[in-house]
Amino acid sequence: MGARTALINIGLLATPQGLSARGGGAQSEVQLLQDAYLLMADGLVERVGSGSPSRFDLAGHEVIDARGALVTPGLVDAHTHLVFGGWRAHELQLKLAGVPYLDILDKGGGILDTVRQTRKASTGALVDKARQALDGMLALGTTTVEAKSGYGLDLDNEIKQLEAVKQLQETHPVDLVSTLMAAHALPPEYKEDREGFLRLIIDTIIPEVAGRGLAEFCDVFCEQGVFTVTESRRVLEAAARHGLRAKIHADELHAIGGSELAGELGAVSAEHLIAMRDSGIAALKTGGVIACLLPATSFYLHKPYARARDLVTAGVPIALGSDFNPGSCPGYSLQLCMNLASWHYKLSPQEILTAVTLNGAAAIGRARQTGSLEPGKLADAVIWEADSLDFLCYRFGSNLARAVIKKGRLVAGA
Ligand code: NIG
Ligand code: FE
Repeated sequence: MGARTALINIGLLATPQGLSARGGGAQSEVQLLQDAYLLMADGLVERVGSGSPSRFDLAGHEVIDARGALVTPGLVDAHTHLVFGGWRAHELQLKLAGVPYLDILDKGGGILDTVRQTRKASTGALVDKARQALDGMLALGTTTVEAKSGYGLDLDNEIKQLEAVKQLQETHPVDLVSTLMAAHALPPEYKEDREGFLRLIIDTIIPEVAGRGLAEFCDVFCEQGVFTVTESRRVLEAAARHGLRAKIHADELHAIGGSELAGELGAVSAEHLIAMRDSGIAALKTGGVIACLLPATSFYLHKPYARARDLVTAGVPIALGSDFNPGSCPGYSLQLCMNLASWHYKLSPQEILTAVTLNGAAAIGRARQTGSLEPGKLADAVIWEADSLDFLCYRFGSNLARAVIKKGRLVAGA
């Protein structure tokens, strides 16, 4: 018999329910069970119940006492650039002097600075660095993480990043989901040859990465001065032919048609959406696309916040991600994202919970496995230093995750 764990004396167990994303009014429908317990076996949820489990139920279980605390599913970070070399602290003064993010990139800094540092790093060094971040994320309550490549921008270095994710998936308790993002910036060696770089991605990188099973999704930075809508469509259609599902960095800084493209292609998710137009919202709804919003990036780039309430009104499911990366968001706290989503998106604590659990899982193709505490799903849960969802959205700046359970085992806190 495998490991069995019982979490008892839960003051409030809060979880969305279902196997797919919840949008519109359904985004706020979460189960709130007071005075509850959670039985786990072999890494999966066995049962959620009210009151105290019987001695018969508890037999063979290791018991963890939640001491009246709030318990939720483990958080899902649906958007990160987890694996990269170096940092970009040297750009702080430029940013303070008011140099825009895209101007820094245009002059060979920004993403391209990180490309230089990532190309220089060994796979082992990338793994070690990303492992530290994953440890930090887990301690903050994040149990599943999407990880994009996009700092290699050539075959070997994109594969090096994705291989690093694979090694971490095999050795770290956090579950990882890989996205190929070779179309993240134009590398210097192709500065005068956009078509050459697109051909490299379409003819070589996508087939090789898909053939080796190194990614499930393909993402493109569809942005003014980076990749056009037409180029993004070509990359994502090629990816689809090789079985990689589409994600798009859309309308992050300029609305050039990224979310309309996401809708047209039926992408799994469109990400950022800071500058999104009405036509973008309509397209996401029509295409069944999940809006993956990244409030910490708005915070860090001093940009407006995406139109979350309009997305809810339109019935588009919202997921939240950290966007952890060395440039536009050098932090990975989904707890901070929850605070920001409350104050700046005006989402309710229930809507926010769904966004960082079930909808996040759906945005990375994992809603059948995780994102809610229901029998048969992974036993991924957080015991919070809190007694309500309101409390999680109200406090900020300190870690409120008292303990984290991954696949039925206590992996962080006590
Ligand atoms: O999602 N926008 C493109 N990519 C990242 C930033 C990457 C970087 O600055 O290194 C983002 O914000
Ligand atoms: Fe991003």
